[in-house]
Amino acid sequence: MADAAVPVLTIDGPSGSGKGTISLRVARILGWHYLDSGALYRAVGVAAGWADLDLGDAGALVRCAFDTEIGFREDEGGDLRVLVNGHDATAELRTETAGAAASAIAAIPEVRAALKDRQRAFRRAPGLVADGRDMGTVIFPDAGCKVFLTASAEERAERRYNQLKDKGVSVTIDGLLREILARDARDANRSVAPLRPAEDAVHIDTTGLGIDAVVERVLALLPPRTG
Ligand code: DC
Repeated sequence: MADAAVPVLTIDGPSGSGKGTISLRVARILGWHYLDSGALYRAVGVAAGWADLDLGDAGALVRCAFDTEIGFREDEGGDLRVLVNGHDATAELRTETAGAAASAIAAIPEVRAALKDRQRAFRRAPGLVADGRDMGTVIFPDAGCKVFLTASAEERAERRYNQLKDKGVSVTIDGLLREILARDARDANRSVAPLRPAEDAVHIDTTGLGIDAVVERVLALLPPRTG
């Protein structure tokens, strides 16, 4: 049962802003739980693909959002693995196809509603770092600390390019930049829970900043810990 007394730090922002890396680092430093809400949308997108569902069939996608089993576990190397209906789908979840499917289904209000309680259930002692698009606005509006991370689209495309190059995937920066801009526009313009900062969020522009510098700025926003 989620407990409203448990502290929550929300970290929202567009894809490639560094949310995932920063959120996980901060969660580990604090010893708090971590919610990768994008992984839930991606998991439903992947499960819909496995079941050959039509991305235009909202009813089927909502059922899929309710029925898909999604689990997280840490492997021996400390990396987070995501299990979808019992299968390790970590690599598949990171593909552009899964990202595009997630972005499309995330625009369906009933899918978002279906995933709401699952997200809130991550709020467990001693605390939660929640990473996504609407963590501070919709899922945890009462969070004690809210961050909105940004970075220029060019820098986000370059970060993604370097990640994919390391994995041996051949892509161009221009192609990635176009995809990022299209995804930003879709996420910002949808009618339900569009990507926008909470009014009380602190904005951090990560363009040109290293991971450690951003982690430090985020930690500095939290009240000093006692005990
Ligand atoms: O953060 P990500 O790239 O893994 O997210 C994948 C998609 O899921 C993204 O295009 C938007 C959607 N999403 C969302 O609508 N709300 C969230 N809280 C997290 C992700």
